[in-house]
Amino acid sequence: MRKSTTTTLLALALGLAGMNAHAALVRIACGATGQELELCKQSADEWAKKTGNEVQVVSTPNDSNERLALYQQILGSGSDKVDVLQIDVVWSGLLASHLIDLKPYSKGVEKDHFPSIIANNTVGGKLVGIPWFTDAGLLYYRKDLLEKYNLKPPQTWDDLATDAKKVQDGERAAGNDKMWGFVFQGRAYEGLTCDALEWITSYKGGAIVERDGKVSINNPGAIKAIDTIAKWMGNIVPKAALNYGEEEARGVFQSGNAVFMRNWPYAWALAQKDESPVKGKVGIMALPKGGADGRNAATLGGWQLAVSKYSKNAKAAADLAMYLTSQPVQKMRAISGAYNPTLPALYKDPDVLKANPFMGDLYTTFTSAVPRPSTVTASKYNQVSNQFWNATHDVLSGNGDAAAAYKQLEQSLKRLAPSGTWK
Ligand code: GLC
Repeated sequence: MRKSTTTTLLALALGLAGMNAHAALVRIACGATGQELELCKQSADEWAKKTGNEVQVVSTPNDSNERLALYQQILGSGSDKVDVLQIDVVWSGLLASHLIDLKPYSKGVEKDHFPSIIANNTVGGKLVGIPWFTDAGLLYYRKDLLEKYNLKPPQTWDDLATDAKKVQDGERAAGNDKMWGFVFQGRAYEGLTCDALEWITSYKGGAIVERDGKVSINNPGAIKAIDTIAKWMGNIVPKAALNYGEEEARGVFQSGNAVFMRNWPYAWALAQKDESPVKGKVGIMALPKGGADGRNAATLGGWQLAVSKYSKNAKAAADLAMYLTSQPVQKMRAISGAYNPTLPALYKDPDVLKANPFMGDLYTTFTSAVPRPSTVTASKYNQVSNQFWNATHDVLSGNGDAAAAYKQLEQSLKRLAPSGTWK
């Protein structure tokens, strides 16, 4: 009798504190670009309420490579400070040894996701990340301005340059001296690697390091691509773009001061908000080709949820990861934030398509996006990317031409893989 009263009182006390006897505290590190943090918090809180667990959202730096450095520091020290981590599509190999296998928790749900992302996230047979959203680089343009100047959306980068100049000059003459032709992610960071890979691939200049491990960066297509963009700096692209990430580029475009922008899908939802000066004036299309015989190319991006192997609450952490990546949450995030689902079924969902018509129109852009060379370069990917973005940033900054920069880069990348092997 006494024992059961104690148990009841204890249960009551825990209940009052909003906990149950098995409640866990789960800490999740999610991104903060655009609406990411807000939407992550919202769904994490829903999960906490549903399960009786407690959740804390830890915000992380916006630049993907800075986030990686933070994660490597936390995981490298074996710390249990973070249970669930939002990881970039290029980090599966880099972080795998610190992450648990999610297969025992997934109940086979991986078969509903894009198989290529699941394959990317499977390292040595372990599912180290469950896909949350996918990304591909897109071209945003001002529909109203192209119409005003009687222009069609550009098919090649040269068309884009000509149109950008025409509209920029016209709008400046009409009184907007802040108008620029084109903005992108030009800071020396992972974002520039993504943008530059698109330019290079569009000129058929390869993938920096090919799938067989061969360093291919020193080639005419790659050189032509970067020299082309470098000529635009200070001309149709503000020099300040050398320090832009995703959000800085969006800031310029969304305030009405750029004709074209390269960005990820998330920028769509924000451009369409009531308070956005460009609401209803924006079109989205595939990025232009590198010349008439070039191709449209979008870099594959995207984020997964992973569970740290040092977590003391791995079961609850995995449950949170599964909840956040589930169909209803992915649908909500697609509608509110234009985060592209990793579940093909949602690309047929009328609500998702109504909020984001481009997800249907540009479906093949997403399914044929170009991966960065992270699988082949494995644990050295970050060094490869770092050297690539620095070399590219130098050329865009006017310090030498692409032929010289990429010749040197080729030698230096080859040193990272003596005898052609990266493992
Ligand atoms: C986006 C992409 C990610 C990429 C990053 C670069 O967040 O999803 O894959 O690394 O941009 O800035």
